[in-house]
Amino acid sequence: MAFETLQVSTEGRVGLITLNRPEALNALCAQLTDELAKALGDFEANADIGCVVLTGSKKAFAAGADIKELQAGTFVELYTNDPFAKSWEAVSRFKKPIIAAVSGYALGGGCEIAMMCDFIIAAENAKFGQPEINLGVMPGSGGTQRLPRAIGKAKAMEMCLTGRMMDAAEAERAGLVSRIVPVDELAEDAMKTATTIADKSLPVAMMTKEAINTAFETTLTQGIRFERRVFQSQFTLEDQKEGMAAFVEKRTPHFKNR
Ligand code: CAA
Repeated sequence: MAFETLQVSTEGRVGLITLNRPEALNALCAQLTDELAKALGDFEANADIGCVVLTGSKKAFAAGADIKELQAGTFVELYTNDPFAKSWEAVSRFKKPIIAAVSGYALGGGCEIAMMCDFIIAAENAKFGQPEINLGVMPGSGGTQRLPRAIGKAKAMEMCLTGRMMDAAEAERAGLVSRIVPVDELAEDAMKTATTIADKSLPVAMMTKEAINTAFETTLTQGIRFERRVFQSQFTLEDQKEGMAAFVEKRTPHFKNR
């Protein structure tokens, strides 16, 4: 399928999705979010893809939901159609590893979608924020829930109540992003990181991601129990035999993703 608001490509076992509405700083209109869900579905179903990178332009990862589209919305319409739910679940429930590579603005829904990814690599010019309060609304795609989990209550409260932006350095100090890289190196760095992940055993990478996400949804005791069971189950995988044999034989493992 040809996409109008995204560029989608593959490099080895990495899928690359580039948000592409430069005229609106990649504002997340309905067509874009539908296309994003479709592109992710395709990558999820493609056994040759082991990791995905989601990125935007140098100026904007995404400047949030499309305000011009949202402006005339009504409660009943938003409640009954729940326009973001399906697309956002395609990101937050994506089972393979997915990295957000953020350059420029990641605001509102843009910051929220980056936080739905497994981790964020930020360019030096990245700016994160939840400015919805300036529009007379609050974050509606996870901002009030994922931001405090990522950076703690004090900073999340300040960001959401004032609408101020956080630069890349502050975002790294606060734990919102895993690393900062020069703007011109972001694409290459994110693809290299994704390739490193895509070369691991896919089922093990998926289970690792699932276990870390479980940490945010259970008690410590339940989480530890879940981790132990999944760890034990991995001894049914050929990849466990291969990984450990390769270590003992001092060679590179060749995972078969089974
Ligand atoms: N929706 C629709 N259009 C947007 C947009 C958005 N979120 N953000 C930018 N644009 C458009 C602008 O309207 C402008 O279009 P025109 O040329 O047709 O006027 C174009 O993109 C370029 O934007 P600017 O001229 O404003 O660029 P700038 O460099 O001066 O400013 C900015 C950049 C600070 C990011 C500014 O565009 C801005 O504040 N954007 C809105 C950010 C925002 O409030 N996001 C939250 C949206 S609500 C949300 O996301 C809800 C949710 O959680 C579900």
